[in-house]
Amino acid sequence: MESDIQKILFTPQDIAAANQRLGQQLAQDYQGKNPLFVCLLKGAILFLTDLVRQIPDSVEIDFMDVSSYHGGTTSSGDVKIIKDLDVSVVGRDIVFVEDIIDTGNTLRALMDLFATRQANSIKIVSLVDKPAHRNQSVQADYVGLSCPDEFIVGYGMDYQERYRNLPYIGVLKPEVYL
Ligand code: IMP
Ligand code: MG
Repeated sequence: MESDIQKILFTPQDIAAANQRLGQQLAQDYQGKNPLFVCLLKGAILFLTDLVRQIPDSVEIDFMDVSSYHGGTTSSGDVKIIKDLDVSVVGRDIVFVEDIIDTGNTLRALMDLFATRQANSIKIVSLVDKPAHRNQSVQADYVGLSCPDEFIVGYGMDYQERYRNLPYIGVLKPEVYL
């Protein structure tokens, strides 16, 4: 697996520092609110589990699985819901937990869907922001790390379901996906 990586963009230490900073901000902003953290499967799962451990107050977690219709390294405009939440969001303070925002299509579609669900508030925390291909008006309220226009893997992020278990975030060698 290591030999497929061209370069490391963020070390485990970079990621831990980002998690600590985000956790402190969220703990402050959501004190006493018992927010519902909605983890977007599968990429955000490592991030979620590290992030919530930085928050000393009560939070709840749930999971959604959404996907673009097509695989590969670019996102299509169509988003489908594979797994919805198990709990009602009426009156809740929702925090979407995402691994990376690329085009913004996924979160735009989710924000539109949730607009009718009567949550009290909806915010987004994304470990990584990749602004190069943004084509939707969507922005994370909390961002851990900003990345250049590269396809990245590790710490939850995959290429064809592999590399999620790398403890760092890196760029694949082009020959791996060509
Ligand atoms: P968006 O809808 O284009 O913003 O893309 C969101 C989803 O695409 C993310 O949640 C990731 O699952 C995936 N994605 C986008 N860029 C990358 C990347 O560089 N590596 C791995 N997955 C990515
Ligand atoms: Mg994702």
